[in-house]
Formats: sequence, C-alpha cells, structure tokens
Amino acid sequence: MAYTNAFSASRDSLSELAAPQVPRFSASTAIPNIISGCPEMHKIFGVIEKVAKTRSTVLVLGESGTGKELIAQALHSLSGRSGKLVPVNCGAIPEDILESELFGHEKGAFTGAVASRIGRFQLADSGTIFLDEIGEMSPKLQVKLLRVLQERRVDPVGSARSIEVDVRVIAATNKDLAEEVKAGRFREDLYYRLQVVPVTLPPLRERNGDVRLLAKAFLRRQADELSKPMLELSEGTLEAMSQYPWPGNVRELENLVERIAILCDSDSIEPSQLPDHIHEVRARVSRSFDDITLPPVGVDFNALIEEYENRLISTALNQTGGNKKAAARLLGLNRTTLVEKIKKKGLEGKIEVSVISDDVSV
Ligand SMILES: Nc1ncnc2c1ncn2[C@@H]1O[C@H](COP(=O)(O)OP(=O)(O)OP(=O)(O)O)[C@@H](O)[C@H]1O
Ligand SMILES: [Mg+2]
Repeated sequence: MAYTNAFSASRDSLSELAAPQVPRFSASTAIPNIISGCPEMHKIFGVIEKVAKTRSTVLVLGESGTGKELIAQALHSLSGRSGKLVPVNCGAIPEDILESELFGHEKGAFTGAVASRIGRFQLADSGTIFLDEIGEMSPKLQVKLLRVLQERRVDPVGSARSIEVDVRVIAATNKDLAEEVKAGRFREDLYYRLQVVPVTLPPLRERNGDVRLLAKAFLRRQADELSKPMLELSEGTLEAMSQYPWPGNVRELENLVERIAILCDSDSIEPSQLPDHIHEVRARVSRSFDDITLPPVGVDFNALIEEYENRLISTALNQTGGNKKAAARLLGLNRTTLVEKIKKKGLEGKIEVSVISDDVSV
C-alpha cells in the first residue's frame, strides 16, 4: 500500500492565524507510508531520518495501533542496509521456542531439533531485526539479548561457538517499559541498551487534526479498491470521528473506514452510518456541564467564561485543522463572528494549530 506522504498533501490553511508565516516542518521529510500533519509526529520523522542511516538501537514506544511497526519499516527502508527486515513477535512465541527462533540451534540441541537451524538474528545479518512486544520477553532471554546487543554475537542453542552478526536492532512495545523496570519485570541494563534512541508515538487522540487526515486518506484508498470514486466522508462524520478518543488508535480508524466504505450505499458517508459507540462519546462531551460544582469561596464568573470561550475556539480550530469556516460551523457561529472574537481576544498567532488541511477552503 502506498500513500503519499502527508507533506505532499499539506497546505497551510492557517496563513491568517499563523504569524509570522513560517512552515512548521521541513518539506524534505521522506518517511514512507506514514501520514501525519501533527507537529509532534513531524519531530519524530526528523529523528527517524537522522537515525535511520546509523546502526543505533531504536526503541519505539506507543499504544497499540499507533504505528510502531510502520516506524520500524521506515527506519529499515531509509537505512540503506543491504539485508532484510526480520520481524519477531516476542509476545507470541513461547520462551524456549523464542530462544532458538532468535539465536538458532544445533542439531540435537533439544528434543525435536532434528536439524540445525539459523536464527532470526543471522537472517537479519546486514539488515534489521524488529523485536516487537519486547516487554513480553522473559528474564532469561533478556539476559541473552543483552549479551547479543553488547557483543554483536549470537550463541545458537546447543552450540559451543558464537557467531558474529551485523544487525540493526529496533524494539517496540506498548507497555510502559520504565514502569516494567521499576516493577522488576524488565532488566534495567537492557532497557538502557535498547533505548539509545527512544521514539514515543503519541496516541491518535493527541494528534490534532490527524483523524480527519487519516480518515480521508484511508477512504481514498478504499474508494479506489471498491471502485466507488465519489465516496466521501461528510463534515458531520469527520466531526464525530474527531471527537472520538480512538483507544485502538490508527488501526481502529483504518478498520472502521474500511467497514463503512464497504457497507455504504450512497456517495456521502453520514454520521448515522457510524457505530453507536462513536456517538456516545460525542454525547458525553456535550453533557460535561452536568458535573459542574462551584467551590464555597465562589468563582470569577467573567474570567471563567472568557477562559471557556478561548478553549472552545482553540478546540474548534484544532479539530478543523485551522479552518475558520468549519470551526465556526462547529461552534454554531458565523465565520465573521468567530474571526471578530479571535481578533478581540488577541488570540491571533497564539493558538497552536496543526497544519493538516488538504482540501478545505478558509
Ligand atoms: N501514521 C500512519 N499513517 C498511515 N497508516 C498508519 C499510520 N499509523 C498506523 N497506520 C496503520 O495502522 C495500522 C496499525 O499500525 P502498526 O501495526 O504499525 O501499529 P502498532 O503500533 O505496531 O500496533 P500494535 O502495538 O498493536 O502492534 C497499520 O495498518 C498501519 O499501516
Ligand atoms: Mg505492532
């Protein structure tokens, strides 16, 4: 699957807001297949570009579905290393099998070892090994892995000789590895050895504007595959999607778009076609006033209203990628009223908005 990089589609629709008008990120980034308009992600892309060509170990952290594997693929493809990218899911393979998977074994090393076999470290020679779900690795294997990382040699099970390997190591986990270290479940020395370059992917709900950008990109792909060229997500649908917290992150969004694209009979995907749980979150947001209690000392009414207004405006602009027309629609205001409010409050240039819009008119 090939996506255009977000950069090629991005356009600064915030030129009115963002003063002075400087591009927020370099247009020279070339991270394949990864779409984002979020500044934090673009900082990560910068790190990836810098580190890809080195042999430094990279530890990719982030919730499930945030794109850890994509980052590993990008690191390998930008590395210029001649060997393969060899993935190993450390959480899915039982401990004793994992040892021989990683390091290989000699014939007769254990019951059932009828022939010798090379391990994934050797398969990844001159390339990259991707140790996924590293947080699940047993303490015994953690010790062995540490030795490999330190000495760049592997010991096949049942063999007296060690073999030199030239492997770039990328590890990933959705566990809080620092917490695992504190709890004594993950070796501290291995943790530091792995996180030479740590990369923490933010959850989708914290990437302003990315839900829209990704939903549109995934829909374009689905529309092509299904030969439904006119298919599009209505503004209301994009809005409801933007308010949902996406606990399964990009994977959840990708799967949902695929499903609704297949099931949709009309050209426009409307909010009514979204599953109920997405609307439920929306309803909760609008009912948040129900929980308000006032402290006995009282409040500064005007200051609170002012602060709330400012927050509503910046949230609306963030959710719409800085598109004032769409933000005004979200807030139920005229565009001119919103523009006046932004001016009056001196918010111009103060509101941090991700540059994401690719098809919006301001
Ligand atoms: N920024 C992105 N742009 C485009 N597609 C993305 C992006 N991030 C993730 N995806 C897609 O979302 C899906 C999940 O991504 P990936 O498998 O890399 O997540 P992960 O963090 O490894 O998840 P897990 O922790 O569950 O293994 C994949 O289909 C991937 O192609
Ligand atoms: Mg993964």
